[in-house]
Amino acid sequence: MAAETRLLHFVAAMTRLVEAGPPDEARLLEGAQPLMKALVAHDDWLPEPMAAAHPQYYQQHLLYGDPLDRFSLVSFVWGPGQKTPVHDHTVWGVIGMLRGTECAQRYTRDAQGRIVASGAEATLRPGDIDTVSPTLGDIHVVRNGLDDQVSISIHLYGGNIGRISRHVFVPGTETVKDFVSGYSNALSPNLWARRLP
Ligand code: FE2
Repeated sequence: MAAETRLLHFVAAMTRLVEAGPPDEARLLEGAQPLMKALVAHDDWLPEPMAAAHPQYYQQHLLYGDPLDRFSLVSFVWGPGQKTPVHDHTVWGVIGMLRGTECAQRYTRDAQGRIVASGAEATLRPGDIDTVSPTLGDIHVVRNGLDDQVSISIHLYGGNIGRISRHVFVPGTETVKDFVSGYSNALSPNLWARRLP
């Protein structure tokens, strides 16, 4: 496949997948994972503006937003040392590693309702994929695994992730705050921050 058609192929296949049956998390995760595996098997297709890092903030460049909000695709670009807060998604997600290294630590609630780390930190390298969802475990911290290089992962979500109201957490506490991530490449006005009337 030509490099310039990989993204188009992925979006077409995802559109067929969401149209082929009910918006069932298990069905979509099963169908989306091989598509993501294929997309991140080659690092030759991401346009340079979508691979641009920011000196201070990790970037979430919207690559594609399904017009019916059934899925969205984002390039996460990590500058050296950048990391997310502890957060959730509230929809299923598939993460594919394209370039560099990403480290992810899952969190859960303990018996007192506090947010605590769960299991060992996972390391993703190019070609690896990971999943999140309210069913499988939805709370984590993600960071660049490299101190001296940009890392890039491709994130697919079962909704318009930049517009979804979700949560950040303070580890060791029950504190929960609402947040909406938006997109780093937001136009003004951001087309994909709108919903159909
Ligand atoms: Fe996340």
